[in-house]
Amino acid sequence: MTSMQIDHPAQLYYLHISSENPERLAAFYREQMSLDEKVIAGQHVLRGGSRAVIVSKGSSGELLFPAYALQSAEALARLRTRLNVKGISMTPLSTPLYAEGAFTIEDPQGRKTAYGICANHRVSDPEPARLQHVVFQTTELEAVVRFYVDKIGFSISDEVIDEETGQLAVAFLRSDDEHHSLAFFRGSRNEWDHHCYETNEWNDIRDWGDKFAKQHMQIFFGPGRHGPGNNLFFMVTDPDGNRLEISAEIERIAADASPGVWPHNEYTLNSWGRAWMRT
Ligand SMILES: [Fe+2]
Repeated sequence: MTSMQIDHPAQLYYLHISSENPERLAAFYREQMSLDEKVIAGQHVLRGGSRAVIVSKGSSGELLFPAYALQSAEALARLRTRLNVKGISMTPLSTPLYAEGAFTIEDPQGRKTAYGICANHRVSDPEPARLQHVVFQTTELEAVVRFYVDKIGFSISDEVIDEETGQLAVAFLRSDDEHHSLAFFRGSRNEWDHHCYETNEWNDIRDWGDKFAKQHMQIFFGPGRHGPGNNLFFMVTDPDGNRLEISAEIERIAADASPGVWPHNEYTLNSWGRAWMRT
């Protein structure tokens, strides 16, 4: 059984977001997430610590793609070989954040993900918040999960099942030892759900909460602890309404672990109390 976790582990590295007001959105990530900003070829390229974002002009609320970093050119070559065998077409991607050889692929719903090698290494972070996972809502949950598992090599860490219908409601997918770097919720629309930054410990969550509080940014979900992943969390929104999660203690999963199964209820999504249930 081959998988990304075993053959070519990958971490979420940066997001490429579009916005009707890219200057305002870039200013938010520059100031609130403490990133350095450069405008390169009309795109706002923001980096710092272990997180990076590109903001470009377009529709608000859209994640053009999440970009994953592999550890070496050899690992990227192994992923290319796998995708060729599976018949997946790769589109070359040129960006200041990747070294040469990066590419995007499209899933059955046209959703893009990118893979490449970091152009600049992540540095230690005075405000710990490593970009760690991204989540989408989808109307075609089974087909999308099969694509990321069978074609690309993500592994299923946990599944959440609707107990009345027996239908899959959520799937958490990993690309290295961390519980999920990608997840999909069944929804009535196909949209970006949220993205998450992993900190070092609970006190970092307090510090981010205090920082956001100074800007009167209200928490809309949490603080709490997720069942799948077992991570502590809270969520806020940026000026475009995109959801950011700050997390700690995300679980690590062995490569040979079988997927866990959870009931679809509030306690699964937040063992501390009320949950945001997607519809
Ligand atoms: Fe999350």
